[in-house]
Amino acid sequence: MRAVTWHGKRDVRVDTVPDPVVRKPTDAIVRITTTAICGSDLHLYEVLSPFLDEGDILGHEPMGVVEEIGSEVTGIAAGDRVVIPFQVSCGHCFMCGQGLQTQCETTQVRDQNMGASLFGYTKLYGQLPGGQAEYLRVPQAQYTHIKVPDGPPDERFVYLSDVLPTAWQAVEYADIPPGGSVAVLGLGPIGDMACRVARQRGAERVIGVDLVPERLERARRHGAEAIDLRDHDDVTGAVRELTGGRGPDAVIDAVGMEAHGSPFGMLAQQLTTLLPDNVAAWMMGRAGVDRLGALHLAIDLVRRGGTVSIIGVYGGQADPLPMLTLFDKQVTLRMGQANVKRWIDDIMPLVIDDRDPLGVEGFATHRLPLTEAPHGYDIFQRKEDNAVKVLLQP
Ligand SMILES: NC(=O)c1ccc[n+]([C@@H]2O[C@H](COP(=O)([O-])OP(=O)(O)OC[C@H]3O[C@@H](n4cnc5c(N)ncnc54)[C@H](O)[C@@H]3O)[C@@H](O)[C@H]2O)c1
Ligand SMILES: [Zn+2]
Ligand SMILES: [Zn+2]
Repeated sequence: MRAVTWHGKRDVRVDTVPDPVVRKPTDAIVRITTTAICGSDLHLYEVLSPFLDEGDILGHEPMGVVEEIGSEVTGIAAGDRVVIPFQVSCGHCFMCGQGLQTQCETTQVRDQNMGASLFGYTKLYGQLPGGQAEYLRVPQAQYTHIKVPDGPPDERFVYLSDVLPTAWQAVEYADIPPGGSVAVLGLGPIGDMACRVARQRGAERVIGVDLVPERLERARRHGAEAIDLRDHDDVTGAVRELTGGRGPDAVIDAVGMEAHGSPFGMLAQQLTTLLPDNVAAWMMGRAGVDRLGALHLAIDLVRRGGTVSIIGVYGGQADPLPMLTLFDKQVTLRMGQANVKRWIDDIMPLVIDDRDPLGVEGFATHRLPLTEAPHGYDIFQRKEDNAVKVLLQP
């Protein structure tokens, strides 16, 4: 089959690789019809290279049709239309029972001291082949699937794999009081969708912050107020002015570890990509290598007693945090990978609603054949050609 494979920093290719097969009785094979490129894939493309091997298959936002199931798989059958969550979870362990599928005790990557396995996401997360491919092997398939009805186009459902539950969790963890306010830092797919979900769930003021004009414009079209970082020396002041002088009740960091505008972290990140893999992995495990611009802004922006919900991915182990400010302002911090299956019952009514309240059908900016994935990564990373969300069709 054809699959998108990693070959080095900013070097992904479409290779011919062996078709996946059922290896365990709990596996299923899914033929992929639509799959997407995520902002998290850009971290692989740029800074997480110490944790990848050449030829690793990328991707974790797939949907398609069940082709084959192992002997112990229940709940799905060949021919079913399914979306595959980005994490592998079993549905019957203690953590899955708590709605913490990202911590699934059946699929935890214990030798790396990490949580549940993720598709196409480095040795830290189990080095499973990803879903930017014609076929995908799905472990724990009795639970690692979301059945969707036939009829509506793939675009209605494909974001259930990641964007929708991630944005949903970001808003849930932000704990915005009824009629309250939230600032969303970063208006990529995750921040944009978080703005829409916050509005949908009753936030009175939603303020999006980014520095890419068409992303700001998209957020405005969907009811957010948008602030261009580049227009303000004092962003905190500008946001406070919009929120009664106090700052928003909650701030969502939808940027993560590659924020623009943090010179120190930039140097550390460049260093880790220049070092030999084993040294770079060691360094990321012990040092602060993130660019913390967005997180520091979030902590500064949030009103006293408010909540910072971190949904952007961070990766260093010793990043400095302004503890004095966090403590004195009495800030609540919540974070983590999204527990996909936990939020599906809440979200499904919105995506099967033909009025499309979250605007998922117009969400993608690019639909490319899988073979053009390298171009998709390139324009998405460089934010060229107005690329915000790129879908790939095998
Ligand atoms: N927690 C999860 O489960 C989960 C799931 C998916 C994605 N993510 C993470 O969410 C983040 C966003 O993903 P995405 O797909 O929207 O990616 P993206 O890269 O398109 O979005 C990031 C946005 O942040 C903006 N930005 C950069 N620096 C900024 C700054 N200092 N202040 C404000 N905005 C800034 C960029 O211009 C860009 O629009 C990534 O870190 C990704 O890894 C997390
Ligand atoms: Zn993702
Ligand atoms: Zn589990």
